Amino acid sequence: MPSQLLQCKSIDKLITDSQDPAHRLRKTLGPWSLVALGIGAIIGSGIFVLTGTAAAGEYSVVPHWWRAQVLDLMLSLIRTGHVSANIMHGRPPAGPAIAVSFLMVAIACSFAGLCYAELASMIPIAGSAYTYSYATLGEIFAWIIGWDLILEYAVSNVAVAVGFAGYFKAPLAQLGIHLPDRWSAPLWAPQGAPHGYFNLPGFLVVLILTVLLVHGIRESARTNNIMVLIKIGAILVFIAAGSMLIHPANWQPFAPSGFAGVVSGGAIIFFTYIGFDSVSTAAEEARNPQRDMPFGIIGSLIVATVLYIAVALVLLGMLKYSTFRYGRAAEAPVAYALRVLHANPTLQFVIIIGALMGMLSSLLVFQYGQTRIWFAMSRDGLLPKIFSAVHPKYKTPHWSTWIAGFAVAIPAGLVDISAAADLSNIGTLFAFLLVSLGVIFLRRRQPDRPRGFRVPFVPWFPLISVVFCIVLMLGLPVITWLRFLIWLAIGMVIYYFYSRHHSEFAARRREAPAELGSGASLPPAR
Ligand code: ALA
Repeated sequence: MPSQLLQCKSIDKLITDSQDPAHRLRKTLGPWSLVALGIGAIIGSGIFVLTGTAAAGEYSVVPHWWRAQVLDLMLSLIRTGHVSANIMHGRPPAGPAIAVSFLMVAIACSFAGLCYAELASMIPIAGSAYTYSYATLGEIFAWIIGWDLILEYAVSNVAVAVGFAGYFKAPLAQLGIHLPDRWSAPLWAPQGAPHGYFNLPGFLVVLILTVLLVHGIRESARTNNIMVLIKIGAILVFIAAGSMLIHPANWQPFAPSGFAGVVSGGAIIFFTYIGFDSVSTAAEEARNPQRDMPFGIIGSLIVATVLYIAVALVLLGMLKYSTFRYGRAAEAPVAYALRVLHANPTLQFVIIIGALMGMLSSLLVFQYGQTRIWFAMSRDGLLPKIFSAVHPKYKTPHWSTWIAGFAVAIPAGLVDISAAADLSNIGTLFAFLLVSLGVIFLRRRQPDRPRGFRVPFVPWFPLISVVFCIVLMLGLPVITWLRFLIWLAIGMVIYYFYSRHHSEFAARRREAPAELGSGASLPPAR
Protein backbone atom coordinates (compact mmCIF):
# COMPACT_ATOMS: atom_id res chain seq x y z
CA MET A 1 0.00 0.00 0.00
CA PRO A 2 1.57 3.32 -1.03
CA SER A 3 2.25 5.79 1.73
CA GLN A 4 -0.12 8.67 2.36
CA LEU A 5 2.83 10.55 3.85
CA LEU A 6 4.49 11.23 0.49
CA GLN A 7 1.42 12.03 -1.56
CA CYS A 8 1.47 15.43 -3.21
CA LYS A 9 -1.45 17.66 -4.04
CA SER A 10 -1.88 18.48 -7.67
CA ILE A 11 -1.20 22.13 -8.39
CA ASP A 12 -4.37 22.27 -10.49
CA LYS A 13 -6.37 21.01 -7.53
CA LEU A 14 -4.82 23.55 -5.18
CA ILE A 15 -5.90 26.31 -7.53
CA THR A 16 -9.39 24.79 -7.94
CA ASP A 17 -9.82 24.53 -4.15
CA SER A 18 -8.94 28.16 -3.71
CA GLN A 19 -11.89 29.06 -5.97
CA ASP A 20 -14.41 27.45 -3.59
CA PRO A 21 -16.70 30.39 -2.70
CA ALA A 22 -16.99 29.29 0.96
CA HIS A 23 -13.22 29.63 1.41
CA ARG A 24 -12.31 32.29 -1.15
CA LEU A 25 -10.33 35.44 -0.32
CA ARG A 26 -10.72 38.78 -2.13
CA LYS A 27 -8.17 39.71 -4.84
CA THR A 28 -7.22 43.25 -3.88
CA LEU A 29 -3.40 43.54 -3.95
CA GLY A 30 -1.37 45.13 -6.81
CA PRO A 31 2.48 45.05 -7.29
CA TRP A 32 3.29 48.05 -5.10
CA SER A 33 0.95 46.87 -2.38
CA LEU A 34 2.96 43.63 -2.40
CA VAL A 35 6.27 45.52 -2.09
CA ALA A 36 4.71 47.52 0.75
CA LEU A 37 3.49 44.29 2.33
CA GLY A 38 7.06 42.93 2.09
CA ILE A 39 8.66 46.05 3.58
CA GLY A 40 5.96 46.14 6.21
CA ALA A 41 7.00 42.65 7.30
CA ILE A 42 10.77 42.91 6.79
CA ILE A 43 11.52 46.11 8.66
CA GLY A 44 10.28 45.54 12.17
CA SER A 45 12.06 45.53 15.50
CA GLY A 46 15.11 43.63 14.30
CA ILE A 47 17.01 46.56 12.81
CA PHE A 48 16.20 48.71 15.86
CA VAL A 49 17.12 46.11 18.52
CA LEU A 50 19.28 43.27 17.22
CA THR A 51 21.81 45.41 15.32
CA GLY A 52 23.19 46.58 18.67
CA THR A 53 23.26 43.21 20.41
CA ALA A 54 24.66 41.37 17.38
CA ALA A 55 27.47 43.92 17.08
CA ALA A 56 28.19 43.75 20.83
CA GLY A 57 28.21 39.93 21.16
CA GLU A 58 27.06 38.01 24.18
CA TYR A 59 28.99 36.44 27.04
CA SER A 60 27.24 34.05 29.40
CA VAL A 61 27.98 34.98 32.98
CA VAL A 62 27.68 31.29 33.91
CA PRO A 63 29.21 29.18 31.11
CA HIS A 64 26.99 26.40 29.77
CA TRP A 65 27.63 24.26 26.73
CA TRP A 66 24.09 24.87 25.48
CA ARG A 67 24.91 28.55 25.13
CA ALA A 68 27.75 27.75 22.71
CA GLN A 69 27.37 28.10 18.95
CA VAL A 70 26.86 24.79 17.17
CA LEU A 71 29.48 25.83 14.58
CA ASP A 72 32.01 26.50 17.32
CA LEU A 73 31.35 23.10 18.91
CA MET A 74 31.67 21.33 15.57
CA LEU A 75 34.93 23.06 14.69
CA SER A 76 36.30 22.18 18.11
CA LEU A 77 35.30 18.54 17.60
CA ILE A 78 36.85 18.41 14.13
CA ARG A 79 40.10 20.07 15.22
CA THR A 80 40.70 18.34 18.54
CA GLY A 81 38.38 15.32 18.57
CA HIS A 82 36.57 16.62 21.66
CA VAL A 83 34.64 19.69 22.82
CA SER A 84 37.36 22.12 23.80
CA ALA A 85 37.17 23.93 27.11
CA ASN A 86 37.93 27.10 25.15
CA ILE A 87 34.69 27.26 23.19
CA MET A 88 32.89 30.50 23.64
CA HIS A 89 29.81 30.34 25.86
CA GLY A 90 27.91 33.03 24.03
CA ARG A 91 28.61 34.79 20.74
CA PRO A 92 31.62 36.69 19.42
CA PRO A 93 30.92 40.38 18.72
CA ALA A 94 30.62 41.33 15.05
CA GLY A 95 31.43 45.00 15.81
CA PRO A 96 30.81 47.51 12.99
CA ALA A 97 31.37 44.59 10.58
CA ILE A 98 27.73 43.76 11.32
CA ALA A 99 27.20 45.85 8.15
CA VAL A 100 29.04 43.06 6.29
CA SER A 101 26.76 40.51 7.99
CA PHE A 102 23.78 42.44 6.62
CA LEU A 103 25.20 42.23 3.12
CA MET A 104 26.06 38.55 3.47
CA VAL A 105 22.61 37.64 4.77
CA ALA A 106 20.94 39.72 2.05
CA ILE A 107 22.82 37.71 -0.57
CA ALA A 108 21.78 34.49 1.17
CA CYS A 109 18.16 35.65 1.29
CA SER A 110 18.13 36.62 -2.36
CA PHE A 111 18.89 33.05 -3.38
CA ALA A 112 16.04 31.81 -1.19
CA GLY A 113 13.92 34.76 -2.42
CA LEU A 114 14.35 33.66 -6.03
CA CYS A 115 13.15 30.18 -5.07
CA TYR A 116 10.13 31.65 -3.29
CA ALA A 117 9.41 33.83 -6.30
CA GLU A 118 9.40 30.87 -8.67
CA LEU A 119 7.08 28.80 -6.49
CA ALA A 120 4.80 31.74 -5.68
CA SER A 121 4.48 32.58 -9.37
CA MET A 122 3.49 29.02 -10.31
CA ILE A 123 1.34 28.19 -7.25
CA PRO A 124 -0.41 31.50 -6.61
CA ILE A 125 -2.46 30.55 -3.59
CA ALA A 126 -2.42 31.22 0.14
CA GLY A 127 -0.08 29.22 2.32
CA SER A 128 3.46 30.03 1.17
CA ALA A 129 6.10 27.35 1.75
CA TYR A 130 3.46 25.11 3.26
CA THR A 131 1.49 24.96 0.02
CA TYR A 132 4.62 24.61 -2.10
CA SER A 133 5.80 21.62 -0.12
CA TYR A 134 2.36 20.00 -0.36
CA ALA A 135 2.66 20.21 -4.13
CA THR A 136 6.27 19.05 -4.29
CA LEU A 137 7.40 16.95 -1.36
CA GLY A 138 4.25 15.33 0.07
CA GLU A 139 1.84 15.53 2.99
CA ILE A 140 4.29 14.84 5.79
CA PHE A 141 6.68 17.55 4.56
CA ALA A 142 3.77 19.93 4.13
CA TRP A 143 2.79 19.32 7.73
CA ILE A 144 6.36 19.71 9.00
CA ILE A 145 6.80 22.98 7.17
CA GLY A 146 3.37 24.32 8.13
CA TRP A 147 4.20 23.58 11.76
CA ASP A 148 7.69 25.03 11.34
CA LEU A 149 6.29 28.24 9.83
CA ILE A 150 4.62 28.98 13.18
CA LEU A 151 8.18 29.73 14.31
CA GLU A 152 8.68 32.14 11.44
CA TYR A 153 5.39 33.96 11.81
CA ALA A 154 4.00 33.68 15.34
CA VAL A 155 7.29 33.35 17.23
CA SER A 156 8.98 36.14 15.28
CA ASN A 157 6.03 38.32 16.14
CA VAL A 158 6.60 37.54 19.80
CA ALA A 159 10.10 39.03 19.32
CA VAL A 160 8.79 42.05 17.42
CA ALA A 161 6.16 42.74 20.08
CA VAL A 162 8.86 42.61 22.78
CA GLY A 163 10.98 45.03 20.73
CA PHE A 164 7.97 47.31 20.38
CA ALA A 165 7.51 47.35 24.15
CA GLY A 166 11.20 48.29 24.62
CA TYR A 167 10.90 51.32 22.34
CA PHE A 168 7.45 52.27 23.55
CA LYS A 169 8.95 53.38 26.85
CA ALA A 170 11.11 56.11 25.28
CA PRO A 171 8.39 58.51 24.03
CA LEU A 172 6.37 57.87 27.18
CA ALA A 173 9.41 58.81 29.28
CA GLN A 174 9.75 62.02 27.23
CA LEU A 175 6.15 62.77 28.21
CA GLY A 176 7.01 62.11 31.87
CA ILE A 177 5.30 58.69 32.04
CA HIS A 178 7.56 55.94 33.38
CA LEU A 179 6.26 52.40 32.99
CA PRO A 180 7.40 50.20 35.89
CA ASP A 181 9.58 47.22 34.87
CA ARG A 182 7.11 44.98 36.71
CA TRP A 183 4.55 45.55 33.94
CA SER A 184 6.80 46.25 30.95
CA ALA A 185 9.55 43.62 31.22
CA PRO A 186 9.36 39.86 30.61
CA LEU A 187 9.14 37.21 33.30
CA TRP A 188 12.00 35.24 31.69
CA ALA A 189 14.88 37.52 30.75
CA PRO A 190 18.65 36.95 30.48
CA GLN A 191 21.05 37.88 33.27
CA GLY A 192 21.59 41.62 33.44
CA ALA A 193 18.31 42.51 31.69
CA PRO A 194 15.24 43.93 33.51
CA HIS A 195 12.77 41.31 34.81
CA GLY A 196 9.08 41.82 35.51
CA TYR A 197 5.79 39.95 35.90
CA PHE A 198 4.36 40.58 32.49
CA ASN A 199 5.18 42.76 29.47
CA LEU A 200 1.82 44.51 29.14
CA PRO A 201 2.63 46.80 26.14
CA GLY A 202 3.86 43.76 24.17
CA PHE A 203 0.64 41.89 24.98
CA LEU A 204 -1.75 44.75 24.22
CA VAL A 205 -0.25 45.81 20.89
CA VAL A 206 -0.83 42.34 19.44
CA LEU A 207 -4.43 42.24 20.57
CA ILE A 208 -5.21 45.68 19.11
CA LEU A 209 -3.80 44.64 15.72
CA THR A 210 -5.81 41.44 15.88
CA VAL A 211 -9.01 43.47 15.96
CA LEU A 212 -7.84 45.40 12.86
CA LEU A 213 -7.09 42.19 10.99
CA VAL A 214 -10.43 40.64 11.81
CA HIS A 215 -11.98 43.67 10.09
CA GLY A 216 -10.40 42.83 6.73
CA ILE A 217 -7.46 42.93 4.35
CA ARG A 218 -8.58 46.06 2.48
CA GLU A 219 -8.33 48.26 5.56
CA SER A 220 -5.28 46.45 6.85
CA ALA A 221 -3.32 46.74 3.57
CA ARG A 222 -4.09 50.45 3.32
CA THR A 223 -3.03 50.99 6.92
CA ASN A 224 0.11 49.02 6.18
CA ASN A 225 0.99 51.23 3.16
CA ILE A 226 0.83 54.35 5.30
CA MET A 227 2.93 52.80 8.04
CA VAL A 228 5.57 51.71 5.54
CA LEU A 229 5.96 55.28 4.27
CA ILE A 230 6.26 56.57 7.83
CA LYS A 231 8.89 54.05 8.88
CA ILE A 232 11.05 54.50 5.79
CA GLY A 233 10.87 58.24 6.44
CA ALA A 234 11.90 57.74 10.06
CA ILE A 235 14.84 55.53 9.09
CA LEU A 236 16.03 58.14 6.59
CA VAL A 237 15.76 60.84 9.28
CA PHE A 238 17.80 58.65 11.64
CA ILE A 239 20.48 58.09 8.97
CA ALA A 240 20.68 61.84 8.31
CA ALA A 241 20.59 62.93 11.96
CA GLY A 242 22.83 60.12 13.19
CA SER A 243 25.50 60.67 10.56
CA MET A 244 26.13 64.13 12.13
CA LEU A 245 26.95 62.35 15.41
CA ILE A 246 29.41 59.78 14.06
CA HIS A 247 32.89 59.50 15.59
CA PRO A 248 34.95 57.52 13.06
CA ALA A 249 37.08 56.13 15.92
CA ASN A 250 34.05 54.01 16.89
CA TRP A 251 34.45 52.06 13.66
CA GLN A 252 37.80 50.73 14.94
CA PRO A 253 38.28 47.81 15.25
CA PHE A 254 35.90 47.19 12.39
CA ALA A 255 35.69 43.41 12.80
CA PRO A 256 36.84 42.56 16.35
CA SER A 257 36.17 38.82 15.92
CA GLY A 258 36.92 38.53 12.21
CA PHE A 259 34.85 36.22 10.08
CA ALA A 260 33.47 34.28 13.09
CA GLY A 261 31.86 37.50 14.34
CA VAL A 262 30.41 38.23 10.91
CA VAL A 263 28.82 34.75 10.73
CA SER A 264 27.46 34.74 14.27
CA GLY A 265 26.20 38.31 13.80
CA GLY A 266 24.59 37.14 10.56
CA ALA A 267 22.79 34.29 12.36
CA ILE A 268 21.20 36.89 14.65
CA ILE A 269 20.42 39.67 12.20
CA PHE A 270 18.97 37.13 9.77
CA PHE A 271 15.88 37.94 11.81
CA THR A 272 15.76 41.42 10.29
CA TYR A 273 15.16 39.92 6.83
CA ILE A 274 12.43 37.53 7.84
CA GLY A 275 9.32 38.67 6.09
CA PHE A 276 10.20 39.08 2.42
CA ASP A 277 8.82 35.60 1.84
CA SER A 278 5.54 36.52 3.54
CA VAL A 279 4.64 38.36 0.33
CA SER A 280 4.05 34.92 -1.11
CA THR A 281 1.41 34.14 1.53
CA ALA A 282 -0.73 36.82 -0.10
CA ALA A 283 -0.57 35.20 -3.53
CA GLU A 284 -4.26 34.28 -3.42
CA GLU A 285 -5.17 37.90 -2.79
CA ALA A 286 -2.89 39.33 -5.51
CA ARG A 287 -4.54 40.64 -8.65
CA ASN A 288 -1.80 39.28 -10.98
CA PRO A 289 0.36 36.86 -8.98
CA GLN A 290 2.39 35.52 -11.95
CA ARG A 291 3.83 38.94 -12.66
CA ASP A 292 3.77 40.64 -9.29
CA MET A 293 5.02 38.02 -6.82
CA PRO A 294 8.72 38.11 -7.90
CA PHE A 295 8.50 41.90 -8.07
CA GLY A 296 7.14 42.11 -4.53
CA ILE A 297 9.65 39.69 -3.01
CA ILE A 298 12.87 40.91 -4.64
CA GLY A 299 11.86 44.58 -4.54
CA SER A 300 11.24 44.60 -0.82
CA LEU A 301 14.51 42.74 -0.18
CA ILE A 302 16.57 45.34 -2.06
CA VAL A 303 14.99 48.30 -0.25
CA ALA A 304 15.55 46.69 3.16
CA THR A 305 19.21 45.85 2.49
CA VAL A 306 20.16 49.38 1.55
CA LEU A 307 18.43 50.82 4.61
CA TYR A 308 19.89 48.22 7.00
CA ILE A 309 23.49 48.71 5.98
CA ALA A 310 23.13 52.47 6.35
CA VAL A 311 21.49 52.17 9.79
CA ALA A 312 24.18 49.75 10.99
CA LEU A 313 27.07 51.97 9.88
CA VAL A 314 25.53 55.07 11.40
CA LEU A 315 24.55 53.46 14.73
CA LEU A 316 27.95 51.84 15.22
CA GLY A 317 29.67 55.07 14.24
CA MET A 318 27.70 56.93 16.92
CA LEU A 319 28.74 54.70 19.85
CA LYS A 320 31.28 51.94 20.42
CA TYR A 321 29.80 48.51 19.60
CA SER A 322 30.47 47.20 23.12
CA THR A 323 28.09 49.84 24.56
CA PHE A 324 25.13 47.85 23.26
CA ARG A 325 25.78 44.69 25.27
CA TYR A 326 23.58 45.30 28.35
CA GLY A 327 20.66 47.26 29.79
CA ARG A 328 18.76 50.05 27.99
CA ALA A 329 21.45 50.27 25.29
CA ALA A 330 20.70 46.64 24.39
CA GLU A 331 16.92 47.03 24.74
CA ALA A 332 16.53 50.07 22.45
CA PRO A 333 19.93 50.97 20.92
CA VAL A 334 18.75 53.62 18.46
CA ALA A 335 16.79 55.49 21.14
CA TYR A 336 19.71 55.14 23.56
CA ALA A 337 22.35 56.43 21.12
CA LEU A 338 20.21 59.45 20.17
CA ARG A 339 19.55 60.27 23.83
CA VAL A 340 23.11 60.00 25.15
CA LEU A 341 24.48 61.99 22.23
CA HIS A 342 21.87 64.71 22.86
CA ALA A 343 20.23 64.62 19.45
CA ASN A 344 17.46 67.15 18.91
CA PRO A 345 14.47 65.96 21.08
CA THR A 346 11.96 66.53 18.27
CA LEU A 347 14.07 64.42 15.91
CA GLN A 348 14.37 61.74 18.58
CA PHE A 349 10.60 61.72 19.00
CA VAL A 350 9.99 61.51 15.23
CA ILE A 351 12.47 58.66 14.77
CA ILE A 352 11.12 56.62 17.65
CA ILE A 353 7.50 57.06 16.58
CA GLY A 354 8.55 55.97 13.07
CA ALA A 355 10.34 52.94 14.52
CA LEU A 356 7.22 52.03 16.47
CA MET A 357 5.16 52.34 13.28
CA GLY A 358 7.65 50.03 11.58
CA MET A 359 7.15 47.46 14.26
CA LEU A 360 3.37 47.80 14.02
CA SER A 361 3.34 47.17 10.29
CA SER A 362 5.66 44.18 10.72
CA LEU A 363 3.38 42.74 13.40
CA LEU A 364 0.39 43.29 11.16
CA VAL A 365 1.80 41.44 8.15
CA PHE A 366 3.04 38.51 10.20
CA GLN A 367 -0.24 38.04 12.05
CA TYR A 368 -1.87 38.18 8.64
CA GLY A 369 0.57 35.63 7.17
CA GLN A 370 0.15 33.23 10.10
CA THR A 371 -3.62 33.13 9.73
CA ARG A 372 -3.36 32.52 5.96
CA ILE A 373 -1.06 29.55 6.51
CA TRP A 374 -3.43 28.06 9.08
CA PHE A 375 -6.25 28.81 6.67
CA ALA A 376 -4.59 26.72 3.95
CA MET A 377 -3.71 23.89 6.35
CA SER A 378 -7.26 23.75 7.61
CA ARG A 379 -8.66 23.71 4.09
CA ASP A 380 -6.52 20.60 3.53
CA GLY A 381 -7.80 18.96 6.71
CA LEU A 382 -4.47 19.08 8.58
CA LEU A 383 -5.93 21.55 11.09
CA PRO A 384 -9.54 21.73 12.34
CA LYS A 385 -12.04 23.45 10.03
CA ILE A 386 -12.45 26.37 12.39
CA PHE A 387 -9.10 27.70 11.10
CA SER A 388 -10.54 28.24 7.62
CA ALA A 389 -13.94 29.61 8.62
CA VAL A 390 -14.43 32.97 6.90
CA HIS A 391 -16.33 35.79 8.61
CA PRO A 392 -19.67 36.31 6.79
CA LYS A 393 -19.28 40.10 6.68
CA TYR A 394 -15.54 40.85 6.72
CA LYS A 395 -14.47 37.81 4.64
CA THR A 396 -11.46 37.20 6.88
CA PRO A 397 -10.50 34.00 8.70
CA HIS A 398 -11.63 35.48 12.00
CA TRP A 399 -11.17 32.44 14.25
CA SER A 400 -7.57 31.87 13.18
CA THR A 401 -6.92 35.57 13.56
CA TRP A 402 -8.07 35.51 17.17
CA ILE A 403 -6.21 32.30 17.95
CA ALA A 404 -3.00 33.74 16.42
CA GLY A 405 -3.58 36.93 18.42
CA PHE A 406 -3.56 35.17 21.78
CA ALA A 407 -0.86 32.68 20.74
CA VAL A 408 1.50 35.64 20.15
CA ALA A 409 0.30 38.12 22.77
CA ILE A 410 0.66 35.85 25.80
CA PRO A 411 4.29 34.75 25.16
CA ALA A 412 5.12 38.37 24.25
CA GLY A 413 4.30 39.18 27.84
CA LEU A 414 6.63 36.50 29.17
CA VAL A 415 9.87 36.08 27.13
CA ASP A 416 12.81 38.23 25.98
CA ILE A 417 13.54 39.20 22.38
CA SER A 418 16.71 37.14 21.79
CA ALA A 419 15.22 33.78 22.70
CA ALA A 420 12.20 34.37 20.45
CA ALA A 421 14.32 35.76 17.58
CA ASP A 422 16.78 32.83 17.63
CA LEU A 423 13.99 30.26 17.56
CA SER A 424 12.30 32.13 14.77
CA ASN A 425 15.56 32.28 12.79
CA ILE A 426 16.20 28.55 12.91
CA GLY A 427 12.61 27.77 11.91
CA THR A 428 12.69 30.22 9.01
CA LEU A 429 16.05 28.99 7.74
CA PHE A 430 14.70 25.45 7.78
CA ALA A 431 11.69 26.59 5.73
CA PHE A 432 13.98 28.35 3.23
CA LEU A 433 15.99 25.18 2.93
CA LEU A 434 12.92 23.07 2.10
CA VAL A 435 11.59 25.65 -0.36
CA SER A 436 14.93 25.68 -2.19
CA LEU A 437 14.89 21.89 -2.43
CA GLY A 438 11.27 22.12 -3.60
CA VAL A 439 12.30 24.17 -6.64
CA ILE A 440 14.75 21.48 -7.73
CA PHE A 441 12.17 18.70 -7.22
CA LEU A 442 9.44 20.51 -9.09
CA ARG A 443 11.68 21.33 -12.05
CA ARG A 444 12.23 17.59 -12.41
CA ARG A 445 8.69 16.45 -11.70
CA GLN A 446 6.78 19.12 -13.63
CA PRO A 447 9.23 20.75 -16.04
CA ASP A 448 6.56 22.01 -18.45
CA ARG A 449 4.26 23.77 -16.00
CA PRO A 450 4.20 27.53 -16.71
CA ARG A 451 6.27 29.61 -14.31
CA GLY A 452 5.83 33.38 -14.22
CA PHE A 453 9.38 33.56 -12.89
CA ARG A 454 12.22 31.04 -13.20
CA VAL A 455 15.27 30.80 -10.93
CA PRO A 456 18.40 30.92 -13.11
CA PHE A 457 21.05 28.17 -12.96
CA VAL A 458 18.93 25.46 -11.31
CA PRO A 459 20.04 23.39 -9.40
CA TRP A 460 23.04 25.57 -8.49
CA PHE A 461 21.21 28.65 -7.18
CA PRO A 462 18.82 26.63 -4.96
CA LEU A 463 21.80 24.59 -3.72
CA ILE A 464 23.70 27.78 -2.83
CA SER A 465 20.61 28.84 -0.89
CA VAL A 466 20.65 25.49 0.97
CA VAL A 467 24.33 25.91 1.91
CA PHE A 468 23.77 29.48 3.16
CA CYS A 469 20.82 28.32 5.28
CA ILE A 470 22.84 25.52 6.87
CA VAL A 471 25.79 27.82 7.68
CA LEU A 472 23.49 30.38 9.33
CA MET A 473 21.64 27.67 11.27
CA LEU A 474 24.99 26.42 12.60
CA GLY A 475 25.75 29.96 13.76
CA LEU A 476 22.96 29.62 16.37
CA PRO A 477 23.46 28.26 19.91
CA VAL A 478 22.81 24.67 20.99
CA ILE A 479 19.82 25.70 23.12
CA THR A 480 18.07 27.05 20.01
CA TRP A 481 18.63 23.76 18.19
CA LEU A 482 17.21 21.84 21.15
CA ARG A 483 14.11 24.06 21.27
CA PHE A 484 13.69 23.66 17.53
CA LEU A 485 13.91 19.86 17.69
CA ILE A 486 11.41 19.75 20.57
CA TRP A 487 9.06 21.94 18.55
CA LEU A 488 9.30 19.59 15.55
CA ALA A 489 8.71 16.58 17.83
CA ILE A 490 5.52 18.16 19.22
CA GLY A 491 4.40 18.75 15.63
CA MET A 492 4.96 15.09 14.77
CA VAL A 493 2.83 13.98 17.72
CA ILE A 494 -0.03 16.23 16.55
CA TYR A 495 0.32 14.91 13.00
CA TYR A 496 0.27 11.31 14.21
CA PHE A 497 -2.79 11.66 16.43
CA TYR A 498 -4.85 14.24 14.51
CA SER A 499 -3.77 15.49 11.09
CA ARG A 500 -3.05 12.26 9.27
CA HIS A 501 -6.55 11.01 10.14
CA HIS A 502 -8.30 14.20 9.03
CA SER A 503 -6.35 15.20 5.93
CA GLU A 504 -8.13 15.06 2.60
CA PHE A 505 -5.86 12.26 1.50
CA ALA A 506 -6.97 10.20 4.50
CA ALA A 507 -10.65 10.84 3.69
CA ARG A 508 -10.17 9.90 0.03
CA ARG A 509 -8.14 6.87 0.93
CA ARG A 510 -11.05 5.65 3.06
CA GLU A 511 -13.47 6.26 0.17
CA ALA A 512 -11.37 4.82 -2.70
CA PRO A 513 -8.17 3.23 -1.44
CA ALA A 514 -7.18 1.68 -4.76
CA GLU A 515 -7.24 4.95 -6.68
CA LEU A 516 -4.33 6.52 -4.85
CA GLY A 517 -0.80 5.66 -5.86
CA SER A 518 2.52 6.56 -4.28
CA GLY A 519 3.51 10.16 -4.96
CA ALA A 520 0.37 10.50 -7.11
CA SER A 521 -1.65 13.68 -7.28
CA LEU A 522 -5.24 13.66 -6.14
CA PRO A 523 -7.96 13.66 -8.77
CA PRO A 524 -9.93 16.93 -8.81
CA ALA A 525 -12.29 17.32 -5.86
CA ARG A 526 -15.86 16.38 -6.57
N1 ALA B 1 12.14 41.14 9.97
C1 ALA B 1 11.31 41.44 11.06
C2 ALA B 1 11.97 42.30 12.05
O1 ALA B 1 13.11 42.62 11.88
C3 ALA B 1 10.82 40.19 11.71
O2 ALA B 1 11.38 42.66 13.02
